[in-house]
Amino acid sequence: MDSQPRIGVVGATGAVGTVTLALLAERGYDRVRAFASSRSAGSRVPFGLDELVVEEATPAALGAGDVDLFLFSVGTSASRELVPVASAAGAICVDKSSAYRLADGYPLVVPEVNGRRALESLERDRIVANPNCCTIPLTCVLKPLHDEAGVRRVRVSTYQSVSGAGAQRMDALAHEIPADHDLVMDWTWEGDESDEEAKLRAETCKILELPDLPLSATCVRVPVMVGHSEAVWVELERPLSPDDAAETLREAPSVRVIELPGFPTPAAAAGEDEVLVGRIRRDAAAENGIALYLSSDNLRKGAALNAIQIAELLLEGVAARA
Ligand SMILES: NC(=O)c1ccc[n+]([C@@H]2O[C@H](COP(=O)([O-])OP(=O)(O)OC[C@H]3O[C@@H](n4cnc5c(N)ncnc54)[C@H](OP(=O)(O)O)[C@@H]3O)[C@@H](O)[C@H]2O)c1
Repeated sequence: MDSQPRIGVVGATGAVGTVTLALLAERGYDRVRAFASSRSAGSRVPFGLDELVVEEATPAALGAGDVDLFLFSVGTSASRELVPVASAAGAICVDKSSAYRLADGYPLVVPEVNGRRALESLERDRIVANPNCCTIPLTCVLKPLHDEAGVRRVRVSTYQSVSGAGAQRMDALAHEIPADHDLVMDWTWEGDESDEEAKLRAETCKILELPDLPLSATCVRVPVMVGHSEAVWVELERPLSPDDAAETLREAPSVRVIELPGFPTPAAAAGEDEVLVGRIRRDAAAENGIALYLSSDNLRKGAALNAIQIAELLLEGVAARA
């Protein structure tokens, strides 16, 4: 591979795709192409100080073998159709849909938590799944606490911004009058749980490699443009004081502890790369319980940034093998 990889961003006109292009430009990548559906083929999207012309993401285009790395942020059905074609043509594929996240044999990766798993994909089809935008910050916080004192049980309540539901929903919120703002649960029901709540549990268990970890979630959409927040109650195997939990999290990668009287907010997290964590305190309702609150940018660490970090691990892995 040349020193600069040839990169394709698929879903380049979407909420995640536009942030992906901005981050790639910031990081100095310049061999980048933008792909989306036939609806926006031929339109232009910003790329640093330039623009890219959007190409249609046909199987023929993605299977041509002239791209080293594809970053997919399209829906699950489009990913199921396009990712195998790109992979068969030899490209590394990082997919942000649900298509591969829980499928056996596909790594589901948060680099700070289980980055080594990404490299396993180089032995097979080079496809790595990027987790859900609430799972990523949650595991960034749970992993260091688990290493310190063993995580036994987790309860979480989310406050998720509309950008998590895509560019059209951002546009709808921008045009909604404040009197119409509401809190909603706009996911698909799987019995008495939403699919978002089920994903948060299953993905967290897979990433932490704790298949039986009890995790109960209530996911809520709030009228905020960017930034997801989570109230988290963690029961630990061993006692850990709030001060020691805070110290553990201060040392954790990609985590920034917000000291009282401050607290994490979506506005403070938006545009930032780190997961903001605060309100770290004893959970009076549990033995060895710690309660905390986090906010993170769902389009950056929750999606585009995490995927680019996965891709960079894979590109390093390929270079190391060459
Ligand atoms: N938003 C988040 O915070 C977040 C976080 C993690 C993961 N994700 C996942 O990332 C994916 C995209 O989310 P988003 O929020 O960016 O959605 P979005 O704003 O609705 O954008 C969807 C993008 O996919 C493209 N697309 C749709 N169908 C396609 C097809 N058949 N072929 C090629 N391109 C197609 C769209 O192109 P057109 O302009 O041509 O329609 C658009 O660029 C979803 O799977 C989502 O679950 C999102």
